[in-house]
Amino acid sequence: METLETREYPIRINRIAKSRIESVDFSKIPFGKVFSDHMFYADYVNGKWTNATIEPYGNISFAPSISGLHYGQLIFEGMKAYKNEAGDTLLFRPLMNYDRMVKSAKRMAMPAVPKEIFKEGLQELLRLDNDWIPPRPGASLYIRPFMFATDEYVGIRPSENYRFMIFTCPVGPYYDRPVKVKVAEKYVRAFEGGTGQAKTAGNYAATLMPVIEAKEQGFDQILWLDGCHFEEVHEIGTMNVFFVIDGTVVTPSTEKGTILEGVTRDSVIKIFEHKGVPVEVRPLKIAEVVEAHEKGLLHDAFGAGTAATIAHISEIGYKGKHMILPDVKDRPISNMVKEELINIKRGRTADPFDWIYTVPA
Ligand SMILES: Cc1ncc(COP(=O)(O)O)c(C=O)c1O
Repeated sequence: METLETREYPIRINRIAKSRIESVDFSKIPFGKVFSDHMFYADYVNGKWTNATIEPYGNISFAPSISGLHYGQLIFEGMKAYKNEAGDTLLFRPLMNYDRMVKSAKRMAMPAVPKEIFKEGLQELLRLDNDWIPPRPGASLYIRPFMFATDEYVGIRPSENYRFMIFTCPVGPYYDRPVKVKVAEKYVRAFEGGTGQAKTAGNYAATLMPVIEAKEQGFDQILWLDGCHFEEVHEIGTMNVFFVIDGTVVTPSTEKGTILEGVTRDSVIKIFEHKGVPVEVRPLKIAEVVEAHEKGLLHDAFGAGTAATIAHISEIGYKGKHMILPDVKDRPISNMVKEELINIKRGRTADPFDWIYTVPA
């Protein structure tokens, strides 16, 4: 066992005896099913963060009564690490993920994980599992920080103890083709005053059954609308949504607290602004999307998120109608932003926004 000295939270490190990397076929990795050698954790006990540890990835043991399993005090993040051509490890705007996790924690009555634990734990994990970051185009190392309540207590109150963890998995592309989305007409993901803006497990659990129904109807995902009137466009299951209407990019605003504030969303908006592409961030009614399509002015629609980067939408199903979008090759705006984003993330182009964080070797 080694110890990495940090400013406040030393990390104990128990390295794996033999890496599992040779058993992995990096040319065909399914998304989210292959896990790298190590994981990081730290515990919140008696009001203090302690026990920062890196261990071989593996099972963890908790009592069946821990409240995170019962009442949903569970938050998570999703980010990716890339390798540039020089072999450096690059992270894309990692502090945005940290800040969002702090915000999610607040909404779910959980403590904030200290920035040092998040940052040092992640960096050390990436150094140890450096060989697991696939250098191939289209592939990356997906990073999953998360935190859950660990009080052994049956009853509804905020837990007093928590565990924060990070594990990573090498991944390939999330979608291998454009997605077909069905507009929500019956089910709800988020509403004002709810938890839509927190990255918390229950938000995702609630969408599983509606997505099964959508898949039975031939769609891949749901385009969620506001939960009160089914009028305003919110987002897609794991992506924020953008439309190009008559040459202007439009994406729903997030100030009502119902939409996840995506790192990709913010980056896409900034790239468009930088490139002089007109972009509007405002409430957007589904009726406006339908009308634009009817007039032939809906030129593009796409989802934006860490897992998929940019996912073109090929079809939008609403009230029995199928709105078909132009061929992907005829979508200059989303294709431009996709390429720009990928190039910045992989360190292939200048980073005018100072978004890339290079993990110190
Ligand atoms: C509901 C939801 N919306 C949007 C996003 C996109 O966010 P980001 O770009 O930070 O990955 C995600 C992914 O985390 C998500 O789960």
